[in-house]
Amino acid sequence: MYILDTINPRIVDDFINNLSCNKSNLIQDLHQYAIENKVPIIKDDVSSFIRNILLTKKPKRILELGTAIGYSAILMAETLSGNCTIDTIEKNNDMYDIAVKNIKTSGYKINPIHGDALVEIKKLENTYDFVFIDAAKGHYKEFFDLIIPKLNNEAIIIGDNILHKGLVCLPLNEVPRRQRTIVRNMKAFIDYIYANDNIRTSILPIGDGLMVNNILNTL
Ligand SMILES: C[S@@+](CC[C@H](N)C(=O)[O-])C[C@H]1O[C@@H](n2cnc3c(N)ncnc32)[C@H](O)[C@@H]1O
Repeated sequence: MYILDTINPRIVDDFINNLSCNKSNLIQDLHQYAIENKVPIIKDDVSSFIRNILLTKKPKRILELGTAIGYSAILMAETLSGNCTIDTIEKNNDMYDIAVKNIKTSGYKINPIHGDALVEIKKLENTYDFVFIDAAKGHYKEFFDLIIPKLNNEAIIIGDNILHKGLVCLPLNEVPRRQRTIVRNMKAFIDYIYANDNIRTSILPIGDGLMVNNILNTL
């Protein structure tokens, strides 16, 4: 049985993630808080990739699923110098409360929404140019289907944790039993995306596996 903790060899992962990139004091503080309190936030290789996509695409409206303490939402707003509005959904009470405080400190136009994304997405009245999915791995297909009607033309959807520590690349019978449902769901999600002619997809072996989708036409 494979036990993987990083997708790339550790030496590659550490090298890329130890490269310094410009971060504000607030982002550095939130990063430190996340490490000290074991809050899962995007890794630096993922954040620098997302920043580059944002600077190319310049989305005005962003939706995020999985706020945690607000780190990635604030990082995205900061990357765009505040020229965007971000709606971000978090279901955990404690995380939500911390995020609200951090978002207020940041001063960016970020609207934290408290609740389960499976419920809250349906209530959204906005449409989006860019969506970042970073919530429950077992529900990516449901999230995706709910998001589609909320997209502007030529939107981008990015999903983190697509390879789930590399386990998604293994035959199911080699995956530890307690991980099989997540892995089965993620494999089905990947097949579903690749079968859609209106989506151009890449899976990058950074972070925990990052999926980048260009939605060609409103589906
Ligand atoms: C990996 S963390 C998000 C990290 C954050 N995007 C960052 O990088 O700063 C995932 C978060 O998603 C939240 N979450 C999980 N399932 C969710 C759901 N169905 N709806 C909303 N939030 C959810 C968890 O409570 C957790 O805080």
